[in-house]
Amino acid sequence: MLEKIDRLLAEISSFSAKTNEELVSFRIKFLSKKGIISDLFDEFRNVSASSKKEVGLKLNELKQRAQDRYNTLRLELQSFDVRSVTSDLTRPSYPWSNGTRHPISIVRNEIIYIFERIGFTVSEGPEIEDDDHVFTRLNFAPEHPARDMQDTFYISRLSSEDSDPRDIVLRTHTSSVQVRVMENQQPPIRTISPGRVFRNEAISARAHCIFHQVEGLYIDENVSFADLKQTLLFFAREMFGKETEIRLRPSYFPFTEPSGEMDISCSICGGRGCNVCKYTGWLEVLGCGMVHPVVLEASNIDSRKYTGFAFGMGVERPAMLKYQVNDLRLYFENDIRFLEQFRTAF
Ligand code: PHE
Repeated sequence: MLEKIDRLLAEISSFSAKTNEELVSFRIKFLSKKGIISDLFDEFRNVSASSKKEVGLKLNELKQRAQDRYNTLRLELQSFDVRSVTSDLTRPSYPWSNGTRHPISIVRNEIIYIFERIGFTVSEGPEIEDDDHVFTRLNFAPEHPARDMQDTFYISRLSSEDSDPRDIVLRTHTSSVQVRVMENQQPPIRTISPGRVFRNEAISARAHCIFHQVEGLYIDENVSFADLKQTLLFFAREMFGKETEIRLRPSYFPFTEPSGEMDISCSICGGRGCNVCKYTGWLEVLGCGMVHPVVLEASNIDSRKYTGFAFGMGVERPAMLKYQVNDLRLYFENDIRFLEQFRTAF
């Protein structure tokens, strides 16, 4: 019997399994209830008392070795065996195209990058906001038309007649984020807030109910309109090219005084006149102004000590200029054929 066990030990250690079937046959042959080892244990009863100890040890060793060998063979089969691969592993892989960023993200990142270089931080805030942060603290009178149902998406409204600072709305501009910054931080403040905004407008090639903004806020001692103008000129030239000219027209926003709108010389025709600038040579890109003292005080900033400027722009407009895409809806349809055209480092 000892000899037989030795023979089986040799067989087990030289057994190899290249397929699952061979592995199964190994298990059936050695380890199953009707297998060789099980039979030997049956025979063991007849072994003479004098050799029981020696044969018993050997038999246990055989069983253990068969089990170990089985585990090893199984692992080998599971793991990838390079030798079994018939194809050429040095061949180049199939071309794999990376995803692309959304054009709106690309332009937003470009805008952020320009302002980061002159010391602006990035602040974010909720898209679902209260009336207080979107309107009241920005000096919108209770009856101001921008609060009207036609412009603002309401999530919940306390009264159907009057607006209430506790009403919940989808933010109509990211100035709400700047209110949140002002209530949590004392000047100097130099921050931009990029984000998605919502207005109840009919969807067309030129308007959408969802769009993106980047708004900026700078508050410190002695901040003047000249600082605003230079900052915007720097931005316009970085964004639209070194030759770009800007012009500021008087405008009105409840939260800035004085307020302005900035035009850039048309980046398509260089100011000579084309159908993009409607033959005026100028394109309107953003609203801006000096932060109204009432707005500073509403967020506990001392308006006798501090002054500031603010500006806000849409992201879609510069994206349309940059990529000459003249239908806003394309930006929201997620058509891969449209999106995969925008490749960039940003
Ligand atoms: N919040 C304004 C808008 O949504 C833009 C703006 C920001 C204007 C800051 C002036 C100052 O149109």
